[in-house]
Amino acid sequence: MAQLTPERIVQIGMGFWPARTLQTAAKLGLFTELAKGPMTGEQIRQKFELAPRAIPDFTDALVSLGMLEREGDGPDALYSNSAEADAFLDKAKPSYAGGLLEMAHDRLYPFWGDLLKGLKTGQAQNESARGMASIFETVYSDPEGLAQFLAAMSGVSTGNFMALAEKFDWSPYKTLCDVGGAEGILAMSVARANPHMTCITADLPPVEPIAQGKIAEAGLEDRVSTAVVDFFKDDLPKADVITMGMVLHDWDLPTKKMLIAKAYDALPEGGAFIVVEQLIDDARRENAFGLMMSLNMIIEGGDAFDYTGKDFALWCAEAGFKGSEVLHLAGPSSAAIAYK
Ligand SMILES: C[S@@+](CC[C@H](N)C(=O)[O-])C[C@H]1O[C@@H](n2cnc3c(N)ncnc32)[C@H](O)[C@@H]1O
Repeated sequence: MAQLTPERIVQIGMGFWPARTLQTAAKLGLFTELAKGPMTGEQIRQKFELAPRAIPDFTDALVSLGMLEREGDGPDALYSNSAEADAFLDKAKPSYAGGLLEMAHDRLYPFWGDLLKGLKTGQAQNESARGMASIFETVYSDPEGLAQFLAAMSGVSTGNFMALAEKFDWSPYKTLCDVGGAEGILAMSVARANPHMTCITADLPPVEPIAQGKIAEAGLEDRVSTAVVDFFKDDLPKADVITMGMVLHDWDLPTKKMLIAKAYDALPEGGAFIVVEQLIDDARRENAFGLMMSLNMIIEGGDAFDYTGKDFALWCAEAGFKGSEVLHLAGPSSAAIAYK
């Protein structure tokens, strides 16, 4: 039997070191700057107003994490982005996925400091724990917070939505409404990959102009439109397919069931209800990202939680759906699909 070592324990337990190093670099905009051309440590220090002590430890740590490359040694060495960082952490590129890291830097990291308190009380440890209302009311009351939150969502979701647009068989359907659609990425991904589909992205009022801007940028106005919906008050727009990306996980069980019932009512016979989540595996043993996403939902919402494909199938059967299946998308994310 292999000798036991504490290596994995140290790696996991000290996971905040690499996480915080990368989040800080993303927050500074280091990768966006280096995408314009290589820089020496001193140039980086001056550009971002860092203390002399910061360099070369900060930049070399990023080299060791595979996020930067370094040509040469010593003060004349030139730093540039790794291929991965250049593709996904340069704000000037449409593939930018660093919004999640920026939000992790500003919100999730400090709030996760109170995980123990969240576990003891079962109560949210985000802005709402500081005497404010729900995450959407608090984050959305500040335009900068709203833009950062929506970009963070897109950072997690874009790859999954592209996979859904390609992997699911859209041929029996013509219309889609994505509820809680944020920047409109799901609706645009499906429309782009399936020229026969017409899509609506529906969300709260402050989100609409942001989605409209993204749709216009992509030149998809002919087949992707926006709608303002408050799913606590309104019926959902009718469509052949209703989608919800990381929406059900935001809420407690009664709200999840209310949303599933509203999706059922908005669909025709034969219609499909699709959720995209970091769906937990049925045995609740393997999808660590999904399980920790659910811990994150204690921090963000107290009673909110992530769930398995089996949970989804049960709730949808209760609502009247005929059957359901799980379609793996990318990494820890899957779609769960219920048919009316
Ligand atoms: C966690 S985000 C997910 C965004 C996107 N679907 C994705 O997967 O990346 C949840 C979304 O639900 C929307 N939302 C929250 N409360 C809502 C409400 N009462 N009515 C409609 N949308 C709401 C938020 O504005 C946000 O865009």
